[in-house]
Amino acid sequence: MLSRLASQRLIEVRQAFRLSAQVYRSFSTALNYHIDGPDNNPDLPWEFSEANKAKVKGILSHYPSNYKQSAVIPLLDLAHQQHGGWLPVSAMNAVAKVVGVAPIRVYEVATFYSMFNRSKVGKYHLLVCGTTPCMICGSREIEGALLKHLGVERNEVTKDGLFSVGEMECMGCCVNAPMIAVADYTNGSEGYTYNYYEDVTTQRVVEIVEMLRKGEKPPVGTQNPKRIMSGPEGGNTTLLSDPKPPPCRDLDAC
Ligand code: FES
Repeated sequence: MLSRLASQRLIEVRQAFRLSAQVYRSFSTALNYHIDGPDNNPDLPWEFSEANKAKVKGILSHYPSNYKQSAVIPLLDLAHQQHGGWLPVSAMNAVAKVVGVAPIRVYEVATFYSMFNRSKVGKYHLLVCGTTPCMICGSREIEGALLKHLGVERNEVTKDGLFSVGEMECMGCCVNAPMIAVADYTNGSEGYTYNYYEDVTTQRVVEIVEMLRKGEKPPVGTQNPKRIMSGPEGGNTTLLSDPKPPPCRDLDAC
């Protein structure tokens, strides 16, 4: 049996763990848990529209009837489009019903793929890369600058519905860290695009936001004028001459 002192210590350790988990979560990617709200709870009715019911049939026809669950991703995508670019919990439940699985099987998929938004996002959803190389190069400051400029919290939409700020994990541009991706929903959630802005600074991200606000298209890719694509800043430092060809063997002489 634990002594009183040991029990007290255990409680303190648990509290500290819970606190550190909360701090960790506040830096994690899109929330991996669901909290019921007035516009997102399982009691709100949701079903595919008549037009989409026909599409659901078409999607299911691509899979054997005993593997209907393989259709989860295209069905979530359809639900995402129908709901204006995000997936409320009742839409995920509707998908689970269509494919005949427990809702948790659908939540697992929707929370894994960050392209599925599980709360409302702005027309421009600004995703700051939160993985180590970008973090070391200042992604926290980049996020702070965006939140301050837009006057929102993470995953909150600006009053005009234009912008929201979220986080993604490594998007494969570490060489040009820090970077952000902008999910552009101005052509609806069917025609959205992901645009990468690399080598960003706190000042440059604000400029990008203001260009987007005006309907301009900021140039994608590196924002560092001294870099060409992902080459080294200031030009090549190695492989400066033509590589030697491989030695050719005179096969006839063998
Ligand atoms: S760590 Fe940011 S793109 Fe890889």
